[in-house]
Amino acid sequence: MKAGGMVTVCWFLCFLSACSTQQEGPRPYNFNTPDNLQKPMPVPVHNPTTEEGVALGKKLFFDPKLSDNNQISCASCHIPSLSFSDGKALSSEGISGKKLDRHVPQLINVAWSEGLFWDGGVRNLESVVFGPITHPDEMGKNLGQLVRELQKDAAYPALFSSAFGADSVQSALIARALAQYMRTLISADSRYDHFVREEPGGQLSRLEREGMELVKEKCAACHSFDAGKNDFFTDFSYHNIGLDTSFSDKDERVLMGRFRITFDSTQIGAYKTPSLRNLAFTAPYMHDGRFQTLEEVLDHYSENVQATPYLDPLLKENTDTPGILLREHEKKAILAFLKTLGSPTFSH
Ligand code: HEC
Ligand code: HEC
Repeated sequence: MKAGGMVTVCWFLCFLSACSTQQEGPRPYNFNTPDNLQKPMPVPVHNPTTEEGVALGKKLFFDPKLSDNNQISCASCHIPSLSFSDGKALSSEGISGKKLDRHVPQLINVAWSEGLFWDGGVRNLESVVFGPITHPDEMGKNLGQLVRELQKDAAYPALFSSAFGADSVQSALIARALAQYMRTLISADSRYDHFVREEPGGQLSRLEREGMELVKEKCAACHSFDAGKNDFFTDFSYHNIGLDTSFSDKDERVLMGRFRITFDSTQIGAYKTPSLRNLAFTAPYMHDGRFQTLEEVLDHYSENVQATPYLDPLLKENTDTPGILLREHEKKAILAFLKTLGSPTFSH
């Protein structure tokens, strides 16, 4: 009996030590990327995604300590139930209470986006986060101060250690963890997705299919999708869609769109094509949130496109009047199809 007990204890200890060797270092995160989003997801070699890194990034994302008054977190403006947008035209949620220059974009499938912000001014998720943290009208936090506060926190030092093997909190690691978390915000679980992946619950009505064909024909040059393969509903590129006739701007050229970054005059007033996914949650629309409803957006494309030298050539293709002429029935069909692109669940 006694000897048998010893064997059990030995076995148990060996088992424990085997487990702990296995768990050394952070564990790779499995994205389970849906088949109709491009695989593999682009991830920078210097910041592989891990379970521990994502968990730390998520904690940081929802932590108001990242702001100067300890009241604003990333999620104050990027609200999960609104597909990580905020429902306002221009947010004044930041610490200064001042209106921001641009509408809060949703944060889904951002891992694939080659440029971030409406003008693509930031090239990767690792560097995007210093903008909001330090911006005086967003979180207004001094980075050195933030690192010191997290270092003193009861939980954070151990979390940085298990995610990155780091002895101390560092600002670059804050950015890496947040970037890892944001890569996990994949959204491709709508009725449309089930339809193209031939999964249960993936039926589209006749009107919705008609809408899909219309979007393919009239919108997909920019809101690109490729049923079953690359269903992002954006080309991740920049276009002027004729919203305005004047772009002069004294302050940092924020109203000049992509021109502000490239100084290419054909890109005056051009902004990044937003995805057509989850639109039911992300109103109001456009870089400045000027349209409250999708009906207004379609009326814009059909009737109100402004001709300027910077208007995207795709919007002055075949008619005397610029834009994409849409009959009432076509608008109805497009709206019906757009509704099939809403995912009731967001991974987060
Ligand atoms: C006060 C509101 C506010 C807060 C707080 C905020 N953001 Fe944002 N975020 C914005 C706005 C507005 C934009 C669009 C800016 C632009 O395009 O010029 C944006 C854009 C982004 C983008 C680019 C998305 C894309 O598709 O181009 C990312 C990524 C992002 N924010 C992440 C974060 C993270 C991470 C935090 C927390 C550290 C954060 N944001 C905090 C308002 C906010
Ligand atoms: C020439 C490229 C192009 C074409 C064609 C195009 N769009 Fe867009 N779309 C854009 C860009 C760029 C924006 C953002 C513009 C901005 O904010 O200044 C946009 C914005 C939108 C938005 C707002 C989304 C949001 O989150 O704010 C919707 C909805 C939309 N487009 C639907 C359509 C539909 C439907 C069609 C076809 C009838 C279409 N678009 C054709 C490039 C295009």
